[in-house]
Amino acid sequence: MTATPTEQETLAIHGGTPVRNTMLPYGRQSLDEDDIQAVVEALRSDWLTTGPKVDEFEERFAAQVGAKFAVSFSSGTAALHAAAFASGLGAGDEAITTPITFCATANCVLYQGAVPVFADVCPDTLNLDPEQVSKRLSPRTKAIIAVDYAGHPADLDALRTLAGQRGLFLIEDACHALGAEYRGKRVGGIADLTAFSFHPVKHMTTGEGGMVATDNGKLAETLRRFRNHGISSEARQRQDSGQWFYEMVLLGFNYRLTDIACALGISQLKKLGANLARRREIAACYTRAFREVPAVIAPAVRESVDPAWHLYPIRLNLELLSAGRPEIFRALRAENLGVNVHYIPVYRHPYYAGRFDYKGEEYPVAENAYERLISLPMFHSMTAQDVEDVIRAVRKVTAGFAPGKASARLRSKAGKP
Ligand SMILES: Cc1ncc(COP(=O)(O)O)c(C=O)c1O
Repeated sequence: MTATPTEQETLAIHGGTPVRNTMLPYGRQSLDEDDIQAVVEALRSDWLTTGPKVDEFEERFAAQVGAKFAVSFSSGTAALHAAAFASGLGAGDEAITTPITFCATANCVLYQGAVPVFADVCPDTLNLDPEQVSKRLSPRTKAIIAVDYAGHPADLDALRTLAGQRGLFLIEDACHALGAEYRGKRVGGIADLTAFSFHPVKHMTTGEGGMVATDNGKLAETLRRFRNHGISSEARQRQDSGQWFYEMVLLGFNYRLTDIACALGISQLKKLGANLARRREIAACYTRAFREVPAVIAPAVRESVDPAWHLYPIRLNLELLSAGRPEIFRALRAENLGVNVHYIPVYRHPYYAGRFDYKGEEYPVAENAYERLISLPMFHSMTAQDVEDVIRAVRKVTAGFAPGKASARLRSKAGKP
């Protein structure tokens, strides 16, 4: 049962009744009987890994995203590492990327012994700002790694032009953006290398898993070798051709995705269209509702893109609130919304801060956004009631922290005048 609070009600954090009785997560998977059956069949087959399901999943995925080739990996992180490797990034090189992302985007540059150079983001989409990228170019720059933050495609035309002028690789971290479109083209068929993730909070899942899409056959071959220890052929090819001989031609890893996971991927891929449609519906409901809530800035959508809505990150209009993001966050959690923050700018993480000398003041847009961001629950199996609860809780909490209101309540709670 769900409570039906009004804006006048006491916030749960102040002892009132929460909007929901149970915690609504910010993201979660949905699996049906077909998915379970597909996995069971794979378990009963001859191939648990690197068998026919891998080829089938890759072919179907490539067709889905409009790319010539798709190469599967054990995670989105492994996919990014492979993309960094395939682009030739190495010691002494730099790759320009965004600080508003999950650390894996920048980590893949470090795995290759290269240096991540952060450029600030656009104020509307929080995606890599091409103008800022052009200011960070150096003779050492080898790649640009764009992230389609929250599922909104980055400014790919401008970034592709920049990359083309300098002979750089454009890697797109589309771990948020499976199914997104940019100027009528599907994400996956635009950048040199596009990485995806199948983590359970994403648009479809294989448990853990990832993919790199590319139109370049040579890059695809390098990716396949990289995920298999750098070996030039796969066990099944050798079995089929009756050969035992293989050669390790580059230093790779075991980043293979199993047949079990690929069987799940094939089944999940069939639901991608419906999942995207539901996410777009939820985003439209939120955006419509938050037009009436001045303390909330809804995520921007540029013309000619169709985002995939992995996340729905609002920004707080702190000027219209009596508390900062930490208090608002805690108040939303108390209402049983599993809100989250995406992202702590990567350069702020102790590992990066300790190893490099990035300066927050060089990223004013990212810094400003970080103080205000809260990701609301967004996943395709959310019910109409879930969506309504989120909207109610956001209205309730922002009204409770309208200037002069909550601050007075907090003062009295603390025993101060
Ligand atoms: C932008 C971004 N890049 C990379 C990754 C890594 O993907 P995975 O968790 O599949 O390794 C994530 C994961 O959430 C992500 O959000």
